[in-house]
Amino acid sequence: MTSTASAPAKVILFGEHFVVYGVRALLCAIDKRITATSKTIDEKKIRIISEIGSVEVPLGSPESDHRTARFMRPFLYVTRRALKESGEKRGIEMKLESEIPPGMGLGSSSAACVAATASVTGLFGRKPAEEVLRRAIEAERIIFEDASGADSSVSALGGLVSYSKDRIEKMGSRNDLSLIIANSRQVHSTREEVLKVREFKRKNEKLFSQMCADESAIVEAALGALEKNDLREIGLLMSKNQKLLEKIGVSTPKLDALVGAASKTSYGSKITGAGGGGCTISLVDKTNTEQTLESLRKVGDCFVAKIDFEGLRYL
Ligand code: MEV
Repeated sequence: MTSTASAPAKVILFGEHFVVYGVRALLCAIDKRITATSKTIDEKKIRIISEIGSVEVPLGSPESDHRTARFMRPFLYVTRRALKESGEKRGIEMKLESEIPPGMGLGSSSAACVAATASVTGLFGRKPAEEVLRRAIEAERIIFEDASGADSSVSALGGLVSYSKDRIEKMGSRNDLSLIIANSRQVHSTREEVLKVREFKRKNEKLFSQMCADESAIVEAALGALEKNDLREIGLLMSKNQKLLEKIGVSTPKLDALVGAASKTSYGSKITGAGGGGCTISLVDKTNTEQTLESLRKVGDCFVAKIDFEGLRYL
């Protein structure tokens, strides 16, 4: 018996970094997925296979085995838990296949946790999306203690999500946005970028508080523009948001070059996620997609993404 589930990647449309200081952020799931397929096997083992590494442990091996690669631990956790709850005595093999570039701020590890949880629990009876989400967040927190759960929530729920520290809300809007995602290929550390912004805030308290107010105004205006599907206005607001991100120091010459290349033809362009590397997003429609792709390709890799409204999918 096999059980397969998939979950999408995400981008942050508005509000990264400022969300840490209480501003609302807007995120959406995109049509790049990670798929997990689990099956019971006649060996007394748990085996996880992925394009970026594999692991095999005997059933009953200790949970806190620090020799296991960090990124594998959430998958072992959800598998052990499913075995324990079901009373299954055989082993499990899980295969992960991804269309999401890892380590680029597109939420690949959260999507993997959601897909893996749904796939392995699905071997013994499918669980509702909310239950899968709760468990996926627990699994993710094994390696990212401070994970807010925002990325996993967007991945499980799909569509547009409004997120603030104390509230995650799926939005009713069903905008058919096209975004070009461009990859700087610069490896970044979210933690380092967050610390950099904290330092900026410490040195510029008054200015930073004004910037939070400005970002809040951008997010509120973006909600209105999304409601009207006003691409020009959404794009303008993205570019305004980018200026604030540049000011707090999370852009890099490569990210500036990507934003610059896309700005000539797209509706608007900005970093998505922590910055310091990772990706940019540019808003386009059929009138300017090709020209924008052409300019961006001169600077980095890029692809077109659409909003995924489905979220978690069982196959
Ligand atoms: C990282 O994807 C988003 C940040 O706002 C950090 C966070 O919200 O935890 C930079």
